[in-house]
Amino acid sequence: MENRKLGSEGLEVSAIGLGCMGMSDFYGESDEAESIATIHRALEIGVNLLDTADMYGRGDNERLVGRAVADRRDQAVVATKFGIVRGEGNERSISGHPDYVRSSIDESLTRLGLDHVDLYYQHRVDRTVPIEETVGAMSELVEAGKVRYLGLSEASVETIRKANEVHPISALQSEYSLFERGLEEQVLPVLRELGIGLVPYSPLGRGFLTGRFRSEADFDSADFRSHDPRMSKENFRRNLTIVEAIEELASTHDVTPAQMAIAWVLAQGSDVVPIPGTKKISRLEENAAAAAVSLSESDLAALDALPRPQGDRYAPTLMGSIDA
Ligand SMILES: NC(=O)c1ccc[n+]([C@@H]2O[C@H](COP(=O)([O-])OP(=O)(O)OC[C@H]3O[C@@H](n4cnc5c(N)ncnc54)[C@H](OP(=O)(O)O)[C@@H]3O)[C@@H](O)[C@H]2O)c1
Repeated sequence: MENRKLGSEGLEVSAIGLGCMGMSDFYGESDEAESIATIHRALEIGVNLLDTADMYGRGDNERLVGRAVADRRDQAVVATKFGIVRGEGNERSISGHPDYVRSSIDESLTRLGLDHVDLYYQHRVDRTVPIEETVGAMSELVEAGKVRYLGLSEASVETIRKANEVHPISALQSEYSLFERGLEEQVLPVLRELGIGLVPYSPLGRGFLTGRFRSEADFDSADFRSHDPRMSKENFRRNLTIVEAIEELASTHDVTPAQMAIAWVLAQGSDVVPIPGTKKISRLEENAAAAAVSLSESDLAALDALPRPQGDRYAPTLMGSIDA
């Protein structure tokens, strides 16, 4: 698989990464041995960008990724995040305080069993702390050798500009897919102006675009998606028409809908590196093969013209934490 550059500081990663979140949280049951085997297979086939966060599984996901890379650290580009603080049950808060940044990286490194992470993101912007202070503390981690490159997630253009003045930002990780196009008008042009890469998360629309889920009843109440407005009873059926159109186009190319959805993201620019999530080797291989799918201008135009989904991308409490 080709490599792509993220930002202007020298970070280079596989064109497609692997989202590890679902191996420990949010998307139903998982099997640790299968998850670790999936990470190993990813590294074998050249998918080297592994995405985790301190809040996934309340630290369990970092521990899992750490175990998986322990004997092959040099093959992996490990990205993690800080800033979403989980309380009891579903309670969450956000912290970008410099002291919190400093303690978070040490805890992440301990869980990962590493002496540095390659890419360290602020997971959500803390609007009570000037971004300059948060990124200032993050830049000290680069100087200390604990972190190689810096990133932000779901940051607004104003935040991105201010952050990038303090220290070059290599990547913005935000939701972007055929199911979520919100970055195109304002954020993408600013990333390009500043030379910042884009790491689209949920490039498969949390699995919806794969065509695997056919009804809201496919998610039990423990699955995060049972609270996803786009997959609610009111919106599921109508949003499925988007998937049906992707399935139709995919069948004419003899590829899967997941491959078509990832190929569309890859075609948005050489500065774009999607991180589809899976805990299964077969799906990892399927998704990685999307790097070889070439879409014509008319395919891209047909995909661009798909209707936008109905419903917000998060429930109201979580939408409130998006920096806008
Ligand atoms: N920065 C942020 O705020 C943020 C938010 C959400 C996610 N993320 C990161 O982005 C990564 C990816 O996002 P995501 O996991 O939310 O969504 P996604 O990649 O859009 O979709 C993942 C879902 O699709 C399924 N899937 C994957 N490949 C498939 C295939 N070929 N055929 C059928 N089903 C397939 C997975 O199931 P199986 O696992 O069962 O295969 C899983 O349920 C996460 O792992 C996480 O690291 C970041």
